[in-house]
Amino acid sequence: MAAMGTSTESSSARIIRRFGGQTALANLLGKRQSTIEHWAKTGRIPSQWHQPLMSLARQEGVILEPRDFVSTEPRRVEPATGKLGILLVGLGAVASTFIAGVIDARRGTAQPIGSLSQMGTVRLGKRAEQNKPLIKDFVPLASLDDLCFGAWDPIPDNAYESALKCGVLDRHQHIEPIADELKAIAPMRAVFDDYYVKRLQGSHVKATGTKLEAAEALRQDIRDFKSRNECDRLVMVWCGSTEIFMEAGETHSNLENLEAAMQSNDISIAPSMIYAYAALMEGVPFANGAPNLTVDIPALVTLANERGIPVCGKDFKTGQTMIKTVLAPMIKARMLGVAGWYSTNILGNRDGEILDDPESFKTKEESKLGVLEYVLQPELYPELYGDIFHKVRINYYPPRGDNKEGWDNIDIFGWLGYPMQLKIDFLCRDSILAAPLVLDLALFMDLAQRAGMGGIQEWLSFYFKSPQHMPSVYPEHDLFIQHKKLKNTLRWLMGEDQITHLGEEYLSAEFVSD
Ligand SMILES: NC(=O)c1ccc[n+]([C@@H]2O[C@H](COP(=O)([O-])OP(=O)(O)OC[C@H]3O[C@@H](n4cnc5c(N)ncnc54)[C@H](O)[C@@H]3O)[C@@H](O)[C@H]2O)c1
Repeated sequence: MAAMGTSTESSSARIIRRFGGQTALANLLGKRQSTIEHWAKTGRIPSQWHQPLMSLARQEGVILEPRDFVSTEPRRVEPATGKLGILLVGLGAVASTFIAGVIDARRGTAQPIGSLSQMGTVRLGKRAEQNKPLIKDFVPLASLDDLCFGAWDPIPDNAYESALKCGVLDRHQHIEPIADELKAIAPMRAVFDDYYVKRLQGSHVKATGTKLEAAEALRQDIRDFKSRNECDRLVMVWCGSTEIFMEAGETHSNLENLEAAMQSNDISIAPSMIYAYAALMEGVPFANGAPNLTVDIPALVTLANERGIPVCGKDFKTGQTMIKTVLAPMIKARMLGVAGWYSTNILGNRDGEILDDPESFKTKEESKLGVLEYVLQPELYPELYGDIFHKVRINYYPPRGDNKEGWDNIDIFGWLGYPMQLKIDFLCRDSILAAPLVLDLALFMDLAQRAGMGGIQEWLSFYFKSPQHMPSVYPEHDLFIQHKKLKNTLRWLMGEDQITHLGEEYLSAEFVSD
């Protein structure tokens, strides 16, 4: 007879027991018992198996719910000892603003404003307990003092030259005092092809034959960087230009096809995929800050799952889309209707110039457009959101540089269908908003790696316009749900209770004291 469940058994042990033990489950799945043994040993079942097991449970009459896959045990998180190397693909406006900001912050000459990992708190326990530590004191994150930086770029400018050219930071206040440190960060030669980024010419590129050789060269760079800088761990963040629009196809469906396509220089393999492949092969977590397909393909997601390496993306959520994912839930919460949402931007930095190319813009447009559909759920509320005119434009306008201006005109309707309008004019600074996201992503991806959380990190959806998600679920876009999910994941990681906001116990307490 199978042993009775105990409250301390792992999620995998619980599920294996419900199917009648390891041998029975291996037979039902038609898999070798060693696979099931591995699940039992690690205490978890990789996410790609969740759907097949749910189907099998239905077929066999076994009671199984998605929450059964969630472990209630605190995860073992390795400590953040030693140096964390942050490898940036692209050393442009976002990357140079990020690096300079971290160096300024650790010298105490500036504050890492906008970074949840550095400035945010997390409530633990009941409201009455008043226990709200800083996130960085609650979870073991790498300290800013332990970070070092590397980059690749087809433009040979070092971080100092790049920061000056991009014109985001004040030269005398935030660049010159740290000039030596910035000058020491020179980019490695890039894997670059202007077929994928039309408005960019790059001379500082690798001379390699096949795309597979290019990946090998990147892997060598990663190993060299790690040993040269005596890093204990690495993470990679794509801060490179937006590539042309691509869709996942046959060459992206599994690792064998992907490697064969790299070997034959297939056009469907973009440079960003080569970086992501190299990172995963070297055991390095990969976050994608641009809307490119990159690591959002079955071949690389499976590789990340199998090797237990965190991945996430796509497209930093910084300006207009951040506003959209706050306002749309508000409008929906009040059951107000939307007739149209017109969003336009002017942007004058190199990113704006690249997005002026229709093929790169299409990638960005797809990423920006998806949001409303998911938040407003027109299939559930056809009278309110079934007929929205949604338009997004980005116009290259050099005089503004990195200081983007984004306008939204929203035509809404209320009681009895009476129309109203909302107008927003966000005068923002693109890289000032994006830099703290790079920091948080690097630190949280490293945390995920040390906690043994491989595959897609949906809890980091908070940072993305187009959050990467498992095929079985839709992406979560609402900024505050994403925020709650992130904090609940941190609580879960550290074995703390989830916060449900139910608050029922306070009401009961009032009644008792009355
Ligand atoms: N700033 C924001 O608010 C924001 C928000 C969302 C997404 N993004 C995305 O972040 C990325 C970076 O933005 P940015 O303002 O720093 O742009 P940028 O043009 O200043 O920098 C991008 C850098 O990437 C380099 N690059 C291009 N292809 C490369 C390759 N194959 N290998 C290595 N380097 C490569 C370019 O030479 C350039 O230096 C863009 O894709 C942008 O769309 C930015």
